[in-house]
Amino acid sequence: MVNGKKVSESSLVSTRWMFPSDANPAGNVFGGAIVRYVDEIAAAVANRHARCNVVIASMDRMDFHKPVKVGDLLTLKASVNHVGNTSMEVGVRVEAENPWTGDVVHAASAYATMVALDGKGIPKRVQRLIAETEEEKRRFCEAENRRNARLDNMKRK
Ligand SMILES: CC(C)(COP(=O)(O)OP(=O)(O)OC[C@H]1O[C@@H](n2cnc3c(N)ncnc32)[C@H](O)[C@@H]1OP(=O)(O)O)[C@@H](O)C(=O)NCCC(=O)NCCS
Repeated sequence: MVNGKKVSESSLVSTRWMFPSDANPAGNVFGGAIVRYVDEIAAAVANRHARCNVVIASMDRMDFHKPVKVGDLLTLKASVNHVGNTSMEVGVRVEAENPWTGDVVHAASAYATMVALDGKGIPKRVQRLIAETEEEKRRFCEAENRRNARLDNMKRK
C-alpha cells in the first residue's frame, strides 16, 4: 500500500450545458438527470483516487436547493472527503449559472459512498486520504461522523 493520496490529486470539476433532453416541458431539469451527472463525476473521482473499478454503494444525501433550467451551465465540483478501508465518500457540489446574466446558484449537493473493487469484484483496500487544507480537514471530520452514523445504522438493520 502506498502512503496516501492528496485530495487535490483526484478532485474534478466538470461543466455541462443543460439541453431540453435533460428537462420537463416547462424547462426544469429533472432531478434524475442531475443524479446521473453526480454519480458519473463521483465515480470518476473515486477512480482517480483508487485507480481501479469502483461502484456506488450509497448516496447519503442528495439535496436540491434551487431549480436548474434549460440553458443553464451546470458545474459539478467533486472531491474525496473521506476514505475508509475499501470505501470512499465523495462530496459533489452542483452550481448552475445563467450564462446570459452570470448569476450562479448552489443548485444541489450530494455525498456518495463509492467502493473500490478488485478484478474479481471483491472490495479492495484503497490508499489513505491526505487532507491538506483546513477545508479538506473539516470535510474529512464531517464525513467520518457520517460514516460512523451510517455504520451504526447498518448494524441496527
Ligand atoms: C457495494 C458493495 C461492493 C459492498 O459489498 P459488500 O460485500 O457489502 O462489502 P463489505 O461489507 O466488505 O463492505 C465494503 C465497504 O463498503 C461499505 N458499504 C457497504 N455497503 C454500504 C452501503 N450501503 N452504504 C455505504 N457503504 C457501504 C462498507 O462500509 C465497507 O467500507 P470500508 O471497507 O471502507 O469499511 C456491494 O454491496 C455491491 O456490489 N453493491 C452493488 C453496487 C452497484 O452495482 N452499484 C451501482 C448501482 S446499481
